[in-house]
Amino acid sequence: MAECKKYYLTTPIYYVNDVPHIGHAYTTIIADTIARYARLKGLDTFFLTGTDEHGQKIEEAARKRGKSPKEYADEISSKFKGLWDEFKISYDKYIRTTDKYHIKGVQKAFLEMYKKGDIYKDYYEGHYCVSCESFVAPSQLVNGELCPDCGKPTRIIKEESYFFKLSKYQDQILKWLKEKKPILPEAKANEVIRFVEEGLKDLSITRTSFEWGIKLPEEINDSKHVVYVWLDALFNYLTALGYGSEDESNVKRYWPADLHIVGKDILKFHAVYWPAFLMSIGYELPKKIAAHGWWTRDGEKMSKSKGNVINPKEVADAYGIENFRYFMLREVPFGADGDFSEKALIERINNELGNDLGNLLNRIIGMAYKYFDGKISSSNVERFYKKELDEARAIISSIEEKYLWKMQIHKFLEELWKVLSIGNKAIDVYKPWELMKNNEEEKAAALIGLIANLLAMVAVNLHPVMPKTTQKIASSLGFEINTDSFKDIMSGKVLDDFVIQKIPPLFPKIEKPLMKPVEVKKEEKTNLITIDEFFNVELKIGTVVVAEEVKKSKKLLRLEVDLGEEKPRQIVAGIKEYYTPKELIGTNVCVVSNLKPAKLMGMISEGMLLAAKDESGLSLLRPEKPKKAGTPIK
Ligand code: MSP
Repeated sequence: MAECKKYYLTTPIYYVNDVPHIGHAYTTIIADTIARYARLKGLDTFFLTGTDEHGQKIEEAARKRGKSPKEYADEISSKFKGLWDEFKISYDKYIRTTDKYHIKGVQKAFLEMYKKGDIYKDYYEGHYCVSCESFVAPSQLVNGELCPDCGKPTRIIKEESYFFKLSKYQDQILKWLKEKKPILPEAKANEVIRFVEEGLKDLSITRTSFEWGIKLPEEINDSKHVVYVWLDALFNYLTALGYGSEDESNVKRYWPADLHIVGKDILKFHAVYWPAFLMSIGYELPKKIAAHGWWTRDGEKMSKSKGNVINPKEVADAYGIENFRYFMLREVPFGADGDFSEKALIERINNELGNDLGNLLNRIIGMAYKYFDGKISSSNVERFYKKELDEARAIISSIEEKYLWKMQIHKFLEELWKVLSIGNKAIDVYKPWELMKNNEEEKAAALIGLIANLLAMVAVNLHPVMPKTTQKIASSLGFEINTDSFKDIMSGKVLDDFVIQKIPPLFPKIEKPLMKPVEVKKEEKTNLITIDEFFNVELKIGTVVVAEEVKKSKKLLRLEVDLGEEKPRQIVAGIKEYYTPKELIGTNVCVVSNLKPAKLMGMISEGMLLAAKDESGLSLLRPEKPKKAGTPIK
């Protein structure tokens, strides 16, 4: 790591279908911590975050709220940015996938892959999860229809699509995964390797059944298609550096990425699809991809319907953003799932931050003023307390390589707390008040000097996690945290003589929970559905092109209905008693178009017609005026 002069790291770009929650804050805070550490080391750092704004999920979320996708994306994207600014996230660039330069870059990449012969046109028929924006293979479906990742029902889509030759890169990806070991924590790599070894199918990379996405490059001249949102999104890591624009100097300066931080749910996209796209356009692969776990609240999965989603701003307002940062990073081993409980947060603030760190500083401020007018000197520390000093130095000189770059931030913090405990223990063992009584003033002064130096070591290392708090500690100790002081302290230099500054307590004791208690709603069973559930139903106008009786059935007609797709759908409908085939041909009908195909009298039916039936008979629902086949009903 030491020889690495630049450091490029990214968060995932967040979907703008909903406002930020604790999961997003967690990813961003980890990235911010690493970025701050890299800068402190003097690396030429570039930290990217932003929002992912195209795709079916966003289009539907906007529609539900009566907004255009762009209007809605603007609104939510600014909420993310606003929160990161309030949290003092030190990003260098905030990308939005609706930005023009990004769109241009994605089109350039698409064309490159196309020219290389890695893209071909075909037809996609299969399951799609809108929530994950992911194609789901039949073998992965849970109960034949649910998404294996989020558990929501998938939709069947059938549409013309361009495909990327992912299968072609299978061996190269495997080799990279096994030889370069880019995935952190390493245990997570096995899942990805298994996924690749099971065989990679070519990937559908365009959609035609909605419009909210990047159009294909003009050269391909096929305006029906928009680029698959994951291809669009992954390229943000390059377009943010200027890929595809006039000035590509940042691509040269920062690519390949040193670290992509992602949640475990999106590891496959980053560790399989992304490298394959990069191989196709001839770019180097990222050096590390680190996947963290998921947060639950008081042991329960967070969901809107339960009303227990944590708003990161609410936590930060109640407990302070830096305490919140410390808690999140300390509470869970990177890669594991974590539980957010206010009780655990309060305990960490009171014990680790308040007692171990804050009080240690207060104790030496108190003693320094009681015995030495606030003056602190390091000159005799080595003479009296070499063992303690060396122990602490050994810890801080190893934690960067051992834990930080391996994303074991909880361990990194645990080790720093060992340095604090060396200090707390030294006071209990050597009892400065007794040293003073016994006229061992030099030894007492050196003990205070030792603690000041230990606190300085902790402060510079803790700085990326708690920037403001540690700067306060440093200024009380007579220095400022920056690349130079970090380097000095890490290389074993002791503090210059100084007068310690009194500061108000950094971590006042928290006596009771400060957030509004949540009542987790039990999900009631009613016949009411949410708007999301309603929008899961896809309704379209169809035109009947073929209608005929089903022999041996009193009720059924076999129809072929044009839904604006490549070929008409066969729909078997129970309307024979009310309509003759002839009167149906050429007329409009309303069709539920994402129904799972079913067999009726041995025939596959790929949809359902809407109709109303009362005592006077059955009537098909139709648009008031003729409409084109395939028009969505909204
Ligand atoms: N837009 C894609 C990423 C594209 S990157 C080229 C996406 N966005 S997301 O908004 O759904 O999720 C962003 C990140 O938040 C993911 O890394 C995800 O793991 C994380 N989290 C979402 N909910 C979470 C928790 N409850 N806990 C921890 N992190 C979780 O995926």
